[in-house]
Amino acid sequence: MRLWSRATAIRRRMLCLWLLLLGFALVTLALSDLFSRDRDHSRDKPGPPRRPLLQRIPSPPDLELIVESRDPALELGVDVAPLKSLQEDELLFVPSVQGTKSAPQKKGSYKVLMPGTSKGTAVPGTLAHGEMGKAVRLHLDGLEKDMEQAAVQKYGFNEVVSERISLHRRLPETRHPECFGEQYSESLPSASVVICFHDEAWSTLLRTVHSVLDTAPRQYLQEVLLVDDLSQHGHLKTVLSEYVSHLDGVRLIRSTRRLGAGGCRTLGAARAAGEVLVFMDSHCECQKGWLEPLLERVAQDRTTVVSPIMDVIDWQTFRYNATQWPVRGVFDWRLDFYWESNPQLEDKDPEKAVRPVRSPALGGEVVAIDRHFFQSVGAYDPGMLLWGAEHIELSIRVWSCGGSMEVVPCSRVAHLNRHHLPYHFPDQDLLQRNKIRIAATWMDAYKKIFYRRETLAHFIRQSESPNITERMRLKRSLGCRNFHWFLTTVYPQLYIPQDRPALSGELYSVGTGGCADYPHGQGLQGGNMSIVPCSGTGSQHCDLNSEGEVRWGPMGALCLDTKGDRVVLSPCPTHRPTASRLQWKFIKLSGQLVHQQSQLCLEAVKEGGLLQSSPREANIYPSTGGLFLRQCTHHPRQQWHFEQVVAPKGA
Ligand SMILES: *[C@@H]1O[C@H](CO)[C@@H](O)[C@H](O)[C@H]1NC(C)=O
Ligand SMILES: *[C@@H]1O[C@H](CO)[C@@H](O)[C@H](O)[C@H]1NC(C)=O
Ligand SMILES: *[C@@H]1O[C@H](CO)[C@@H](O)[C@H](O)[C@H]1NC(C)=O
Repeated sequence: MRLWSRATAIRRRMLCLWLLLLGFALVTLALSDLFSRDRDHSRDKPGPPRRPLLQRIPSPPDLELIVESRDPALELGVDVAPLKSLQEDELLFVPSVQGTKSAPQKKGSYKVLMPGTSKGTAVPGTLAHGEMGKAVRLHLDGLEKDMEQAAVQKYGFNEVVSERISLHRRLPETRHPECFGEQYSESLPSASVVICFHDEAWSTLLRTVHSVLDTAPRQYLQEVLLVDDLSQHGHLKTVLSEYVSHLDGVRLIRSTRRLGAGGCRTLGAARAAGEVLVFMDSHCECQKGWLEPLLERVAQDRTTVVSPIMDVIDWQTFRYNATQWPVRGVFDWRLDFYWESNPQLEDKDPEKAVRPVRSPALGGEVVAIDRHFFQSVGAYDPGMLLWGAEHIELSIRVWSCGGSMEVVPCSRVAHLNRHHLPYHFPDQDLLQRNKIRIAATWMDAYKKIFYRRETLAHFIRQSESPNITERMRLKRSLGCRNFHWFLTTVYPQLYIPQDRPALSGELYSVGTGGCADYPHGQGLQGGNMSIVPCSGTGSQHCDLNSEGEVRWGPMGALCLDTKGDRVVLSPCPTHRPTASRLQWKFIKLSGQLVHQQSQLCLEAVKEGGLLQSSPREANIYPSTGGLFLRQCTHHPRQQWHFEQVVAPKGA
């Protein structure tokens, strides 16, 4: 106890000292600002600057572009791919600044001290702007606030831990041994790595950049394009420009308008000179040798879009977690994306360990795509707002319009998974509008299945229509296939719900007034069902199909099953006919749902719901409640309705 309070006291004292130093630094900064304004004309005089960090150096013109993204007056750069698919005004034009690359670089004239790089040696007057700003903000937040908590709050991950980790840390080797024997072509295409960011933390952004520079062979790396999607944080302004000016092959583009993930990447793509575009999130770390296998695959077939295996960086500890192979990207009927570990693909054949796996979709973290193919297939949908679901749209479009997608196992990149999404996360409505665009453009009559499981989208759609004129024109001009083809050819594993009237919807329990639910986070392998308040969002939608299975969830991959007298969810079989254990019959007149094999009835018990009833009953039911199999009676606990929250029309 005493030890603890002493530690707190020391921490307080440290904090006070810090604040003192910061105050001093702030005053120094303000003064030097005044001075440097007076001395502007004498800036280029030789000799070492006295206060290196506080000196303002104008960024070389080719490093910081202010890009007006929809200015028709700007001319198309010569190196931009032919654009079969886009209307001119849909494109984001940027001025070409090739040839100004040789602007004088003041390398070595001063040293930029950055958060995390040399904490221990920081003395007053050598504090970087970012660090100072953060500490001051923390001070304003209240002295008591724990720094780590504040960082998690701000970024969705523990940025304090991240700052302590080197910007050049090496990841443990997790590639399959077979990968080391792989031979790649001598003449792989060049790559432009496009990293879009919006208010990213300093350490994670720069670790991403350095990780690319440290791992990608220079002969294949055309450039790293940092695209600033209108960040507000101070450390991403001049300090970043200065830092980037010291990095060979890294360029910074700034947008003057918030573009969102897709628009920002499209802007970077229009500016990129490499043959292959690698879009990368701004909080990634690359494994050695990650780039070559991706380029090899794209070189073999220019319509193939590829992703590495995405390993995971823990948001709290920044520990690196390798992802099990095989894995592929999929999405469900709510148009949410998952990386699916796919035991179906598992095989004893050692060659499988290095062979790419076809993937119905790819995540947005890292994708490599031929630059010309990207442009001709329609870039990212410019109608998508901020971010969310744009990678699903790209996936469906690539497959439907002549391309394919793969996960390449010898390439590994780790992605920082955030604990929560920070404050600028688009609200649910924005995400739903993006999904509505996908449904309207690509899903044909199957979109009804989506709207039943994402009812908010249905209600938004009722009051407004997306303008997909251009995307439909693109779809026609590229001769894209329909969604039925996608479902049967590319993603046959996705269960297609039947959603028969009165036999699908929320499973409403008359006796308890709640709905059957499968608590989020129990995993894709299934588990106990419970009774909770009806959500009305479509998250509790299920479907009693003509096979007698009660298919649950947005994938429809879990089936109502039994375990002893408990009713649980388990993965549905992939073969037909289905197991008799999984067959149910709904008797409309009585509302009973009868388990065919045992002829017992589905009964609902609320959590703690029977504790006050007769002691005899309390013995039969656990206090946790849930769904059970019981002798059929006409008790309301055995009465059910399938409630359809929405009834979307075909159009
Ligand atoms: C990393 O792996 C450990 C052990 O397998 C696991 O407990 C932890 O949840 C994983 N972290 C992430 C972020 O996946
Ligand atoms: C939809 O977009 C097209 C081109 O982008 C435009 O010409 C048309 O006027 C828009 N329609 C509506 C209803 O806004
Ligand atoms: C399901 O319920 C049973 C009985 O209450 C319990 O023993 C088991 O741990 C539960 N399983 C899960 C995954 O919660």
